[in-house]
Amino acid sequence: MNDAQVSSNVVWHNGQVSREDKEARNGHKGAVLWFTGLSGSGKSTLSHAVEHQLFQMGAQTTVLDGDNVRHGLCGDLGFSDIARWENIRRIGEVSKLFVDTGTIVLTAFISPFQEDRRVVRALHQRGDFIEVYCAASLGKCEQRDVKGLYKRARQGEIKDFTGVSSPYETPEHAEITVDTGEMTLEESVTAVVNLLIEKGVIKHR
Ligand code: ADX
Repeated sequence: MNDAQVSSNVVWHNGQVSREDKEARNGHKGAVLWFTGLSGSGKSTLSHAVEHQLFQMGAQTTVLDGDNVRHGLCGDLGFSDIARWENIRRIGEVSKLFVDTGTIVLTAFISPFQEDRRVVRALHQRGDFIEVYCAASLGKCEQRDVKGLYKRARQGEIKDFTGVSSPYETPEHAEITVDTGEMTLEESVTAVVNLLIEKGVIKHR
């Protein structure tokens, strides 16, 4: 379903408090850190750890996590290519709403398709979308198999499983690649937070 096709006669209402006002009060810019990578590559762990660090620095943050969002907002979606697209489209729109409140949004979705990530990037203002590729290899993720899903996918119990029976398209335009298969969590957090400082999203403490 495409809202653009069914929503008509709606007019955008501009609020009285601008994004800039909110950013000024927060003391940092709004942005989305879009973590992408295989299941088990550490997206959730890293995004929550980065959020914790940002929170301690006084930032306004929120994490949108695939497994959590699929319990509610996207609970009606499966894992076909089209369902994944709708999942990512919704999260892209939600992220944009949050970014406009001056929040640093951290999203943790496999988001396996280049085109889906390109569209979400294009939805955001230039510089707001920061793609973080969690580059743990399939071998590493499968070896960890924290949720036991790779095993079940290999046995044919789960269909369209990313890396096994559905593709993962490696990012070509990620702002940062974090080798979550080899680096420690602390090193990974530091790399992401330093990038936010470098990009002027947050100030050095
Ligand atoms: S995405 O491809 O649409 O971005 P998302 O990040 O929301 O996926 O959800 C991925 C999580 O759903 C995985 O970490 C895993 O726990 C679970 N899952 C269940 N079935 C599948 C599947 N077929 N492929 C990938 N992940 C699956």
